[in-house]
Amino acid sequence: MIKGIVCVASDWGIGKNNGLLFNLPADMKFFRKTTKHNIVVFGKSTYDSLSKRPLPGRFNVVLWDQATSLDCLEGAITFAKFDELLRFVQLLAKEFEVFICGGSSIYKLFLPYYDEVLVTKVEASDPETTAFFPNLDKEKSYYIDRYLGGGIDNGLSYEFLKYKRR
Ligand SMILES: NC(=O)c1ccc[n+]([C@@H]2O[C@H](COP(=O)([O-])OP(=O)(O)OC[C@H]3O[C@@H](n4cnc5c(N)ncnc54)[C@H](OP(=O)(O)O)[C@@H]3O)[C@@H](O)[C@H]2O)c1
Repeated sequence: MIKGIVCVASDWGIGKNNGLLFNLPADMKFFRKTTKHNIVVFGKSTYDSLSKRPLPGRFNVVLWDQATSLDCLEGAITFAKFDELLRFVQLLAKEFEVFICGGSSIYKLFLPYYDEVLVTKVEASDPETTAFFPNLDKEKSYYIDRYLGGGIDNGLSYEFLKYKRR
């Protein structure tokens, strides 16, 4: 399965200045638990922004124009071309769960290919947002399959939703 995993604001914003919009420990915990022992795929900017890289306990894959070989980043498999990454991900996804973890550019490239997207929706937005996820509520090919929970964290109201592709 190819799965997107993302935390969005009410306007589907996901980041600013190469960082996240919100500090939501409940979402971090959900991300860790969900992706642990699985395959995680990042764009180079998001990968660089991780405090610990490669993410421990996961198989890390990075899309980077300037990748010179499969192993040019220590601890991660790299691809310089999206079509090659896609073929690799589609092959792995027959046996394993592959999580597309952002950022904006890579989320958009995978839009036609997700089996499902795990969305943490936060009831807030930031006018300085620079990065967005495509609004799945406006995408005809996606629908909300399940509400997975929610709550209030750091004063922010959030819900976990599973979207599926028709
Ligand atoms: N809210 C969330 O859940 C969440 C999750 C992840 C990220 N984010 C946010 O998303 C933002 C970053 O998104 P972004 O779009 O700027 O960066 P990104 O997708 O993480 O990385 C972009 C970089 O990936 C490489 N790349 C992208 N498309 C490519 C292609 N087709 N072929 C080869 N290489 C390609 C390029 O690297 P080079 O230019 O270096 O070659 C490009 O600059 C940040 O604000 C981050 O915090 C939010």
